[in-house]
Amino acid sequence: MATTVFLIGATGHVGDALLDELAVDHASGRLIVKAGVRSPRSHALATQKGLLAVDFDLDQIATFDNALRGVDTVFLLRPYTLRQLMHGKTVTDAARRAGVKTIVTIGAYGRPDTPWPVIGWNFLVEAYVERSGLSFTHLQPNYFMDNILAQLDSKSHTLVNRLRAPVSWIAASDIAAVAAAVLRDPAPHAGKTYPLAAEAASPDDIAAMLTDITGHQHKVFVPESHRMMDRLLAQGREPEYAQALIDYVDAVASGAVPEIADTFDTVEQVVGRPALRFKDFLRRNRNR
Ligand SMILES: NC(=O)c1ccc[n+]([C@@H]2O[C@H](COP(=O)([O-])OP(=O)(O)OC[C@H]3O[C@@H](n4cnc5c(N)ncnc54)[C@H](OP(=O)(O)O)[C@@H]3O)[C@@H](O)[C@H]2O)c1
Repeated sequence: MATTVFLIGATGHVGDALLDELAVDHASGRLIVKAGVRSPRSHALATQKGLLAVDFDLDQIATFDNALRGVDTVFLLRPYTLRQLMHGKTVTDAARRAGVKTIVTIGAYGRPDTPWPVIGWNFLVEAYVERSGLSFTHLQPNYFMDNILAQLDSKSHTLVNRLRAPVSWIAASDIAAVAAAVLRDPAPHAGKTYPLAAEAASPDDIAAMLTDITGHQHKVFVPESHRMMDRLLAQGREPEYAQALIDYVDAVASGAVPEIADTFDTVEQVVGRPALRFKDFLRRNRNR
């Protein structure tokens, strides 16, 4: 019988690419792929790709049992909120009730003893999943290359970014490729934690790549801290969550996160091809 996979967070950067990856498996009957959705827009995104859409809201526990019935494997992406801690716990509890076998989490990369909350909150969820007795695989990406697209003003050829030193990056499409490989065949990946960061680059390095690709000189603009807070609050982040993000960016900028530029060959090991290079990502996506 085909394995049933339930995707949480399937309509964002990683999720959208994951739907594309798994559409073929669903169409062929190798997997039954259900996407948890909470809006007509998300419902349409999943069904237009031929996948099943199931009503699901991380903030509405009443939607969990129905959504998880008959599911073998859960992909658990949690949104940018302090509530992600309870999201992780309540989904894990519901997965146990429903007889789910495997949970594949996506969190963030950092040293296991990281003192920074935006990273450490993910580790707490991972520990809870591990304690549940379910089989698990954890994906730990560092910075998404896709972030840059939202930080790029292509009219003024300016990259708005508070970082100065190199950090390591991964394309959301590569995170999705690794997730898809695990969801297709969880057994070889059981109990593993996969760091996902393919290439180190500073904002100045990325601006130089853009200059090279476009022929227009690109520059980096470093906004002040209060502008980042205003932007995060405008995006609906809780003040405590926004402050934790700002503290982390400040820590990275001051050199207090020694692992921040670590890179790994995880994509090659799991998917069997090299990760997308930053310059190729920019070539493909800069006009998106
Ligand atoms: N960006 C980075 O550089 C970076 C680095 C390391 C780790 N990460 C991790 O990556 C994850 C974010 O990935 P992403 O960029 O793909 O996310 P995203 O684009 O922000 O998408 C969030 C997804 O979660 C869904 N969602 C939000 N609230 C929900 C709710 N209450 N119930 C059900 N679904 C809900 C959204 O669905 P709707 O369409 O309904 O809104 C969407 O599918 C986070 O865990 C973050 O810690 C990011």
